[in-house]
Amino acid sequence: MRGMILAGGAGTRLFPLSQVASKQLQPVYDKPMIYYPLETLMSSGIRDICLISSPHDLPVFQRVLGSGEQWGVDLSYEVQPEPGGIAQAVIIGESFVEQDPFALVLGDNIFHGEIGLKPLISTFGGGAVIWGCRVEDPQRYGVIEIDSSGSVVSIEEKPDNPKSDLAVPGLYVYDGTAVSRAKDLTPSSRGELEITDLNLSFLDDGQLSAVELGRDVTWMDSGTHESLLESSAFVAAIEREHGQKVACLEEVAYNMGFVSLKEIMQTIEKMPKSPYRTYCERSILG
Ligand code: DAU
Repeated sequence: MRGMILAGGAGTRLFPLSQVASKQLQPVYDKPMIYYPLETLMSSGIRDICLISSPHDLPVFQRVLGSGEQWGVDLSYEVQPEPGGIAQAVIIGESFVEQDPFALVLGDNIFHGEIGLKPLISTFGGGAVIWGCRVEDPQRYGVIEIDSSGSVVSIEEKPDNPKSDLAVPGLYVYDGTAVSRAKDLTPSSRGELEITDLNLSFLDDGQLSAVELGRDVTWMDSGTHESLLESSAFVAAIEREHGQKVACLEEVAYNMGFVSLKEIMQTIEKMPKSPYRTYCERSILG
């Protein structure tokens, strides 16, 4: 399965921080935010990844992340000229997708814990799969309603009166029909091709299923000053508690078998002397 990361958008909610760097390059404790969605894909076995961002920010992502070779992944890049909505990314990624199934993750979404993407990839038989996470403020998100059998009954984008407390995190698995479905969408009142409308297209055809995130999984949308601070505090606490880094991509790449010991050693040797390098040496080289 391929992976797509959406890392554009205006980032206006993070002004004036967004003047320094795009939202997805802001620090979440000790790494740029984009490392976390990359980990989500890589730790599920996805190695063919397309990152989509604005013309202004894309060169910075290319400089920071490169070709992905250092992690044994193939990173490609596409431009989204204007923030025309999350579903527009699916159209932009058409030549990358090539009719194959893919996982789309939003660049400001952080998942920690077993989300079940890896087992899903091996059993995925088509349609669309989304996740649901119980939250206290569902009106900030896409919201799903499920019946007693776990089937999705409705899905609404940022409803004033949510029908449930199940928010839809920014992780979606689609079959190749997602591209043509996205092309058939019409822009919403805010002028965007909405991801919720794409999900509704699958729901209308009886092709949408939802998985509820386990209680042991933490999901954070880090798109506001408050949630950015919370995400950093969360990662710092986990790393301190376990003595292990979250989203250390060198460690993920090595543990997943994407790179050999020799290759990862060469990558680590190029890093400046830093606590991050010391951690990589200790965790990988022992
Ligand atoms: O975080 C999960 C939520 O993400 C979902 O529950 C909602 O259904 C979904 O619409 C989305 O809501 P947000 O209000 O959080 O979306 P936002 O505009 O913040 O965009 C999410 C990410 O996608 C962010 O990293 C910026 C990027 N993006 C967004 C748009 C609209 C783009 O790269 N291009 C775009 O055109």
